[in-house]
Parts: sequence; structure tokens; C-alpha cells
Amino acid sequence: MANLKKDIAASIAVGLVAIPLCLGIAHASGAPLMSGLVAGITGGLVIGSMSKSNLAVSGPAAGLTTIVLAAIATLGSYEAFLTAVVLAGILQVIFGKLRVGGLSRLFPSPVIKGMLSAIGLILIMKQFPHLVGFDKESFGVEEFFDTDKDIESGSAQGLNTFRMIILAFSSLEPGALLIGLTSLALLYFWDWKMAKRFPIIPGSLVAVGVAVLINQMLGAGMRVAGKHLVSVPELHPNNFVHPDWAALSNPHVYLVALTIALVASVESLLSVEALDRLDPQNRRTPPNSELLAQGVGNLISGLLGGLPVTAVIVRGSVNMAAGATSKRSAIMHGAWILIASLGLRNGINAIPLAALAAVLVHVGIKMAHPRTLQQMSKRGWSQLIPFVVTVLAILFTDLLIGICVGTLVSGCFILRNLHAAKGFTVHKSGLITRIKLHQEVTFFHKVRLSSVLEAVPADSILEVDGSEARTIDHDVLDLLELFKGQAAHKNIEIIFGGISLMQSFSDKQMAAMQAEYDALLSNNQAWVEGCQKEDPQYFERMAIGQKPTFLFIGCSDSRVPAEVITRTEAGQLFVHRNIANVVSLHDMNLMSVLQYSVEHLVVPHIIVCGHYGCGGVHAALSSQSFGLIDNWIHPIKKVVDDNQAELASILDPEQKERRIIELHVLAQVRNILKTPVVQRSIQKLGIPRVHGWVYDMTTGKIKDLKADVNLQDDLHPVFHYEYDFQKKTPAAKH
Ligand code: CO
Repeated sequence: MANLKKDIAASIAVGLVAIPLCLGIAHASGAPLMSGLVAGITGGLVIGSMSKSNLAVSGPAAGLTTIVLAAIATLGSYEAFLTAVVLAGILQVIFGKLRVGGLSRLFPSPVIKGMLSAIGLILIMKQFPHLVGFDKESFGVEEFFDTDKDIESGSAQGLNTFRMIILAFSSLEPGALLIGLTSLALLYFWDWKMAKRFPIIPGSLVAVGVAVLINQMLGAGMRVAGKHLVSVPELHPNNFVHPDWAALSNPHVYLVALTIALVASVESLLSVEALDRLDPQNRRTPPNSELLAQGVGNLISGLLGGLPVTAVIVRGSVNMAAGATSKRSAIMHGAWILIASLGLRNGINAIPLAALAAVLVHVGIKMAHPRTLQQMSKRGWSQLIPFVVTVLAILFTDLLIGICVGTLVSGCFILRNLHAAKGFTVHKSGLITRIKLHQEVTFFHKVRLSSVLEAVPADSILEVDGSEARTIDHDVLDLLELFKGQAAHKNIEIIFGGISLMQSFSDKQMAAMQAEYDALLSNNQAWVEGCQKEDPQYFERMAIGQKPTFLFIGCSDSRVPAEVITRTEAGQLFVHRNIANVVSLHDMNLMSVLQYSVEHLVVPHIIVCGHYGCGGVHAALSSQSFGLIDNWIHPIKKVVDDNQAELASILDPEQKERRIIELHVLAQVRNILKTPVVQRSIQKLGIPRVHGWVYDMTTGKIKDLKADVNLQDDLHPVFHYEYDFQKKTPAAKH
């Protein structure tokens, strides 16, 4: 119920503003004044009922005045023009049925925001003269350069928005000025203090009511009259005009119809889209049903002699500012225009234009709030520039041209952003160029990728990693495929990783890898022959069993081969290797190796062999995360933590890392000594001895850290288990 009251009040506010706008637009279009009222009534009653928009208000549009003016001249008569309006309505219905309205979603956000701000500025600048009683220009004209018809007295003589403001200052009307400024002040006061207390009454109605009263009380010299008041013509059956169907044989009619259908559709969809964005309840208007409603509206308006109609932002904004909650308000505003032009003419004609100008300036200031500019500048140039261009283009031309220019500029920025989004990153290290493709590699990355490929030097290696790419444009794939041929000429080895449809390795690379593999087997053959030559019984002896003397625990690093650096033979070393020679009591693999070598093989020596330049230790010393490996090398970080005092005294980072490698080996020796298996064996047999080594890859020399004796004695008593060797234990069975 409260909402219905709000809608009624809002509908009166919109109706009051709509009446002079309809009349002014009709005048500026060179059409009979009645045609503006008919269009306004149709826009309210017909389109309002059919549209699914909650806030939009339809009626004759300022954005169409130049087109209508030219079309009437081309077609020869207003009646012939009406035929085009009817046809335009039919075309819009067809557009709606073809569902082309969805295209309106493509209007870029900065353009829509720019349009709202521009219309706000236009309202302020165009209504200012009316506010001070300079009513030379028709009420509601929006384009920058005036035409003859825009001016009440005819003959525009190079007038434009700015000239009109300057002229207004030189011919202020004291009564209008008083009414206009009072109304404006009242609107702000109402918003500030009263709106909360009387939420149902729109400030604009109060301002207009007070304005009428003030004007009645003013003395004869001050009171505004004549052209400074609203002037509704009588809506009389004799004044109605109808389409001239003979015009159907004029091919120009169809061109005009198509122009109106297109422009009116665009303007309607833009207005609806803009108002949807302002809707506090975030309701969305389906664009195709809006086109149907607009089409039927134009069909009926044309048949009744009215101007073409569109959804219009200014009246929609007034509607929203006045507190409308649903489409009832738009429908009723049509009814008010009808009633006003039938029976209330005297009352309406007492309203000073200055008061209505104040209502529009008030709405204009809200629409063109500097906050929008601030928001857009925060979003960066790609939003700010299209916004500013749209505002300026609309201000200095008209709505349609401004929207086109703004959309073009915005489109350029959208393309540029697509192009600028990094499709890949390039890393170079020595002879290797790595290209890592990102998630989206589009056509726009082709040019830059092409120049990166060109720059890959001859006799080098190119890796293209597509493992994280979700989509790779076909043009880019073609480019890579093509580059294969060029690369062969420049002797560039290419490795494609993770790109489907793309063979990872070239035939040449595959052949080389196969040869490396085959070499292992042929080497083995040669080795077998060599061994047998030296000792024909070699393999028979080996097959009997093993009795190694050492358990060697080393790093998996390919440059630390246990047998090679110790020049030992097969059968001498029992070997366990892992990344960074870590001894973990939770490592089933190492613990099994340890138990087997201590209890079954009864090795006299266990050697933990680290090496300088160990990649595992180096990784542990950085803060970088390597995934699962982090857990494995964690004990190395603990070594650093446990020896902070000693390490702090070493300033050279290289020396520090070497010392950490030594401390790490010593810590692993201790870990071995702490195991029950080793403790038990030492107590029982006095072996094994546990040694710590560090191998220096740069010299090939091994450094013995002389750990075995000291560390065993250092161990905390809790690690010295007590065993009853008289009892049979599982180990003793063997
Ligand atoms: Co290593």
C-alpha cells in the first residue's frame, strides 16, 4: 500500500516534468505539439503496461529530434513521416522476435556510465537558462548545436549550449530566477531534512507546488507568465493527424523507418540498461521483451499521430528520484499527461518552467556526480578514457554519436588489454630458452611470440612448456609448428612439453635418446667380455654370495658414484643412496638396509658420505618451497637450527654451506648410532664403526670427518639400550 502511494506520487512528479519535455521535443522535431503529448501518453499507458522494466519511462526522445526533423523534410509531410513511425514499430517487434536485444549487454560499462554523466551535465547546462527565465531554447533539447526548430522564435544563428548559457546571464528574468533558485533550494532541503519524515512525498512535487504559489503571490512586474509557463495545447479530436498510407510507395519511407527502428531500439536498450544499473533492487529488464513493447508503442503512437518513442533516461531518473517502486508509476504518468491535456490544462499551465528546470537540474547534478569520475579513474586508463570520451562526445554532438564514439574507444582498450595480457613468459639460461605458456594463449600473443621465436639463437635449445595452458589459439599452434622447420635450419633443438597435438621431441632427438639407451646394453656386453677375459670364473664367484665390508650411505647425485670414487669392486659395498644422504628412522627403506647389513651381513663399517655442492642441502638452505621434497630435506634445516651459534661465526656463504654439509653428515652419523639395531650390535660385537665423509667433487678428494669414536661416547645414555644377550632374540636365530 505504501508502495502504491509512492508510485502515485512519483507518477505525478514524472508527469509534470514529462509534459513540457514532450512539448519541447515536438517543437524541436518540427512536429505538431499534439504529437509530443500523444507519444508521451502512448509511452506511459502502452509501453508502460507491456514493458518488464520497473523504472524506465518511455515517451518522445530528445535523441531523435534531428532524425525526425530531417525525415519530415525528406518525406514531404508529417503524415508521410507517421507511416515510417508505424513501420519502425513493426520492425522493432521483428527485432524482438529475432532476439537481437541481447546485444545491448555488449555496451561497455564505462560508456553506459559516461552516458549517464553526460546526460546529467546536459541537464544542468541546458536547464540553467530555463531556471533563470531564459526560455529561448525548447524545453528538453539535448544536442550541442541548436537547429532552427530548437529555438522558440526560429532561426538558431549558430547557437549552442555554451552560447545559450552566456545569453541567459544577460537576460535574467527576476521572477523566474527567484522561483528557480527557491525550487532548487527546496529540493535540496527536502532531500536533507524532510524526505525521511515524509517518504511518500517527492521533493519535486513540493518544489513545483511552492513555485506555483510563489508565482501567484508575486506582483504583476515580477510574476512569470506567457512563454515562461507550461503551455499545454488542447487535445481535440479535430487536431489528430493520421499516417498517409500513400507514402508506402515512397522508398525513402522504408529507410526512415529502419533508421528510427535502429536508433530508437538502441536508445531504449541503453536507457533500460542504465536504469537497471541504478535500480536499488537490482532488477533486470529482459531486452527482447523491451523491444516488443517499444515496437507496439511506436506502432500505436504512429497510428495516433504521435512522435516515435523510446525509453528515456531523464524521465526514468526523475521517476527513480521521486521514489517509484514499480512500473505502475510509468503507466500512471501516461494517464496524468492524458488528464492534464483534457481537463486540467488551466492548472498545469500555471506551472513556471523555472520550477521544472530546477527539478531537472537537481536530477542532473545527481547523475553527473564527480564521484563517478573518481571511481572511473581508480579503475585505470582503460576505463577512464572511454568514460571521458563518451561524456565529451555526447556533450558536443548528441547521444547516438557520443555512444558510438565511446564504444569504439572502449573497444580499442578492450582489444589492447587482451593483447597486453601476458600469454607466456620467457626465461633464458645459457643455451636454453624456456617459453612457459600461460593459461590462455590467444591470437593477440602471436606477434610477440613470433618475435621471441625469431630471437632464439642458432645452435641452442628451445623448450616450450604448455603444461599449464588451458587454451592455445590455433594460429599460435600453427606458428610453433612452422617454427620447427626454421629451427632445423638454425640447428635449434625444440622440446614441446604438455602441448597436445604437438610431438614433444623431434625425430633427431628421439634417435639420440635411443642411442644413449642402447649404449648401456652394448657397454654391458663389452664389460662382460672384459671381465671374462681377465678372470674366466669371475661371474661364478660372484654368484656364490656377498660379503661386503661397508655399508655406504650416500647422495643420489649422479656425480658421487660410490664404487668409482673408492675404486672398489663388485661385492665390496652395500649401498643406499637418497637425496642429500638423509638418515631417517622413519625411512623403511634405509632402516631395512641398515638392519640387513648389520645383523645379516655384519658389516664392520658404515659410511655416511655427503658431498660439497649438494643440491639437496642447497635447496634446504633457501626459503623456496619445492613441494613434497620440503619434508625430505627438513632434517637439514634442523641442522642449521641446531648449530646457529657456530654458523653465525662463518661469514663467507660458500664456507658456511660447506660447514653445514659437514654438520649434516655428522648428524646423520649420530642418527645411525642412535638406532637400536646399531646399538645392539655395538654392545654385542663392538661393531660397526660409523664414519662420516664429505666428497669434494671439485678435487675428487674425500674428507674423513673422524666421527666414529667421539660420537658414540657423546650419545645421551637414553640411547644406550640394555639388552639381555642370554635370551634368544629373533636376530640371534641366524
Ligand atoms: Co647431493
